[in-house]
Amino acid sequence: METLSSFPARRMRRNRRDDFSRRLVQEHQLHASDLIYPVFVQEGTHEVTPISSLPGIARQAIEPLLHTAERCLELGIPALALFPVIPQARKSLDAAEAWNPDGLLPRTVQALKRRFPELGLITDVALDPYTSHGQDGLIDESGYVLNDETLAALARQAVVEAQAGADVVAPSDMMDGRIGVVRRELDQAGKIHTRILAYSAKYASSFYGPFRDAVGSGQSLGTGSKETYQMDPANSDEALWEAGLDLAEGADMIMIKPGLPYLDILRRIKDQFKAPTFVYQVSGEYAMLQGAIQAGWLDEKCVWESLLSFKRAGADGILTYFALRAGEWLKAQR
Ligand code: PBG
Repeated sequence: METLSSFPARRMRRNRRDDFSRRLVQEHQLHASDLIYPVFVQEGTHEVTPISSLPGIARQAIEPLLHTAERCLELGIPALALFPVIPQARKSLDAAEAWNPDGLLPRTVQALKRRFPELGLITDVALDPYTSHGQDGLIDESGYVLNDETLAALARQAVVEAQAGADVVAPSDMMDGRIGVVRRELDQAGKIHTRILAYSAKYASSFYGPFRDAVGSGQSLGTGSKETYQMDPANSDEALWEAGLDLAEGADMIMIKPGLPYLDILRRIKDQFKAPTFVYQVSGEYAMLQGAIQAGWLDEKCVWESLLSFKRAGADGILTYFALRAGEWLKAQR
């Protein structure tokens, strides 16, 4: 007769029994160097303006922002992603403020670089903070976003950002051909070291709502939609197609956005191209978790789990509004 102890033959729980072996068999780890902290930059000196749909996140003027940057460096977070809040009076149909070398974003990049040259700075390339209609590109009379006319504007914007000191420019506009045009114009301006992080798989998502509140593009956009350029959430082969084009045009890194609802896309792109692949845990994902944590419905550990899911799915790095908090947990663990 079979003894009880020989069944089950494989005991998966043995490795889970003690802390030491749980740690030894752990496959994925989150490090501070995986994190990118997105920040909202506003005019002024000391102003900090909370964003109600992003509890715990605020628009920051330069002084508090310098403080935030210093905190990131202390925690080992390699880079900030900057998003400017442009005053309504500076928005226009042609988005000209986007390539104003004395604009809010270039001035902020210069100030951060002067103080913290070793901190990586990533700037967005897209016109939505600058257009009076909130679209990422220039529009025709019918409101359709024009591709090729927008490319020229994006390239000017990218060059101004790079000249101000941005280390990485990140086109998030989803126009066709933008990576090639931005690379060519950067090279022509002598900015051969400026990296391009391409938002290759950027979906037309409802999870961007709080971000649009934060930069004030939601109000301008009104009932307008971005589905003539951002991707259909129903598609995944198309994301590979987009990533392949962006890499061929000169992208140095790829972004998938949003994160949690698109883990399958992250895994497929990483497997297919083996390029540096990043994921954006967007504002709505943050709001969802943070709201439930604040209501007492979820334990804060759910954040950790969400970040690990990105690592498991193949992310080399994660853009997340939880970056500072995760950095603090990691430091406390050391
Ligand atoms: C657009 C842009 C978006 C985000 C960053 N840049 C999306 C959009 O408004 O369409 C969203 C990021 C987030 O939700 O955290 N260029």
